[in-house]
Amino acid sequence: MTDRPTEPREYRRIQVRPVAGALGAEVSGADLADLDDATFAELHAAWLEHQVLFFRDQDLSPEQHKAFGRRLGPLQTHPFLASRGAEGHPEIVVLESDETRPYLAAGWHTDVTFVERPPMASVLRAVEVPAWGGDTMWASTRAAYQALSDTMQRLLSGLAALHDTSKTFSRRAYPAERHPEGDEAPRAVHPVVRTHPETGRPALFVNPAFTRRIQGLRRSESDALLEFLYQHMAQPEFSCRFHWEKNSVAIWDNRCTWHRAVADNAAAHRRMERVTVEGDRPA
Ligand SMILES: [Fe+2]
Repeated sequence: MTDRPTEPREYRRIQVRPVAGALGAEVSGADLADLDDATFAELHAAWLEHQVLFFRDQDLSPEQHKAFGRRLGPLQTHPFLASRGAEGHPEIVVLESDETRPYLAAGWHTDVTFVERPPMASVLRAVEVPAWGGDTMWASTRAAYQALSDTMQRLLSGLAALHDTSKTFSRRAYPAERHPEGDEAPRAVHPVVRTHPETGRPALFVNPAFTRRIQGLRRSESDALLEFLYQHMAQPEFSCRFHWEKNSVAIWDNRCTWHRAVADNAAAHRRMERVTVEGDRPA
């Protein structure tokens, strides 16, 4: 079920070991706090090919975490999630869970698809992790698209969907002052199939956290088609899974993947920090 090249490209400065058929590779030989241009260029090529890259032992300061993200592009701040803003780092989102705070991202989603220009990349670092459990899964929405019939691909390619925050960042859970109402509430319409601006590869671009409905279909048609797509995209053949250690880092491409936390061992303290890199308007 792979759509990656069968002959992996050669890297001189880094070692790249694929971890699954559809996406994901562990990278060694790179210090994200101190990357020369040639090493960054290899990392970038590996990232486009493998869609999510995993690194161990990256003890990044907040400044180093942001500086690495900025090599990919300008950073976004998140409208709702907690951040290290009080310490001068509003770009660093904090995802923290323990016996009183549940996991925030335990369902399949792509980050921040409810804005007109969703992030191209997310760079997530493990700060505190449980001894077992608390993994994250990713799946290739590009491989999922590829596996559909020509007829289904053609049907989906003409469709657009509304994304908003109503299912995930409810006004009940997120105070009104952080949650603009009415016309101000974040929402965006995106194609159901987007073309990756760097690789030219098509990928599915819907998710149950933020996609409200497909436009131009009756509600029951939209619900049924989205449900089919979510089941299809969640198949294990399109996925990979990563076990975090302290100072592990994952860098993923939001334009051709989705992901979820695995909320086992949920009472144990887990703290992750993320920066997201601005992206294009999906097309
Ligand atoms: Fe996420």
